[in-house]
Amino acid sequence: MIFKQSHKFPLKTHHESTDWIEILNHHKNQPHIKYNSNSFMVNCAQGNQLFADLPLYTLCDGAGGVPLGLMTQSRYRDLAESLNHDDISSYLYIAHPFLAHYCQKGSELLKILHTSGYSHSSNPKDFNLFHYLCGAKNTYTQIHNHATATALLFEGMKEWWLAPSTVENAKLMQPLFMDRVWHLYREPGGSLAEWLEIKSSAVSSIEDLVIVLQPPSTSLYIPDKWYHGVLNHAYSSSITLSWDYQ
Ligand SMILES: [Fe+2]
Repeated sequence: MIFKQSHKFPLKTHHESTDWIEILNHHKNQPHIKYNSNSFMVNCAQGNQLFADLPLYTLCDGAGGVPLGLMTQSRYRDLAESLNHDDISSYLYIAHPFLAHYCQKGSELLKILHTSGYSHSSNPKDFNLFHYLCGAKNTYTQIHNHATATALLFEGMKEWWLAPSTVENAKLMQPLFMDRVWHLYREPGGSLAEWLEIKSSAVSSIEDLVIVLQPPSTSLYIPDKWYHGVLNHAYSSSITLSWDYQ
């Protein structure tokens, strides 16, 4: 299921589906999603377990969150399951930021990623962003940008917005993205395709905008300095790595 839009192409939507094979086949036609092998994802699932008892923090980096205090993954999952999910909250999108709070667990995970050919380095000093993230359904980040990044999704479903870092895009993306966030608030489970049809003029004004749904067991590539925002359609856990090209 891909929703891709740019000034060069007409608005194109695919009917919504929960058939993973169909979704994956659609995704193969666009450049931002990479499909990871089963063995790679098994390794990463082991990495996911490394985080079970680590403290998680409010994601403030670009998300404008309100501090919640410390929380472990298991406590957060309990909290997420107790929510009614009609409250859209950026402050509930939480993370373990490894550069600020580096620990042995993060080093172990980087080694797994490097050995699997996913990461260019196992040295945390080579990364300027290294987050483990958990997000309840309907949590989101605001539009932001940074160096080249890749986001590996263990579980959940993420709606990503990606666009080149032009001056116009900087002005246009955030209000439209928040309109989409509030669309989900007003109409839980509301159709993305229908919202795109209604907003097609505004969506078309964002140069080379890509809106893509990321399924689990995939990684998403974010080009250098591209603006992006993400909205969790379901409880998600993921890792984001960012580094500068030499
Ligand atoms: Fe980001």
